[in-house]
Amino acid sequence: MAETGVRIAPSILSADFARLADAVAEAEAAGADAIHVDVMDGRFVPNITVGPAVVAALRRVTRLPLDVHLMIVEPERYLRQFVEAGADILTVQVEACLHLHRVLQTIRGLGARAGVALNPATPPVAISQVLGDLDLVLVMTVNPGFGGQTFIQSMLPKVAEVRRMLDEAHSPAVLEVDGGIAPHTAPQVVRAGARMLVAGEAIYGAEAGVRAAVQALRAAAEVGLGEQV
Ligand code: DX5
Ligand code: ZN
Repeated sequence: MAETGVRIAPSILSADFARLADAVAEAEAAGADAIHVDVMDGRFVPNITVGPAVVAALRRVTRLPLDVHLMIVEPERYLRQFVEAGADILTVQVEACLHLHRVLQTIRGLGARAGVALNPATPPVAISQVLGDLDLVLVMTVNPGFGGQTFIQSMLPKVAEVRRMLDEAHSPAVLEVDGGIAPHTAPQVVRAGARMLVAGEAIYGAEAGVRAAVQALRAAAEVGLGEQV
């Protein structure tokens, strides 16, 4: 995918868990760039979702990169399992890491790309000392835990600030956003500097179907790109 483009990563959290393979196939056919897998442990967030076994099952049915978002405490205990299951990008929540630098190095050492997610209340400075150690920054635009929540508008300046930090450090890391992303919010986050958009409800909850939803999101993202100077 072009360096100047915007990647779309459907979140299977909003798909029918009884037919995940179909959900992934639909996303792939619609031209999605990655599959976003939300791992929740009932401790870091109130919800419980899936673990490495489901990542391994997804790995068998798609060639798309698996973008695995760990919303779990002590993620260091599970990094190897998720990479061995097939995660291409492994993103940890900065708030869950006592030793973030070590966690990022471990992920890279295992052969995956290392991501860090920031909760809405966490400032960008939390990653200022590890900019050279990460491949992706995920700015949460809702409080993690559930799909279908409302986009938090006040996260837009934060997306822009992270964009500036990455650019000033000449970092090639991908800037991803997650939560409440839909055709009406996509242009705003892209304008602020996001280049990878996670969307659950806007894709798997769309009445028009997955293909139309991915296309609508991509078109909206391109509006945001076009407005950038
Ligand atoms: C929320 C998850 C998201 C979720 C987004 O905690 O990290 O990936 O699936 O869902 P939407 O796009 O519906 O806000
Ligand atoms: Zn997520």
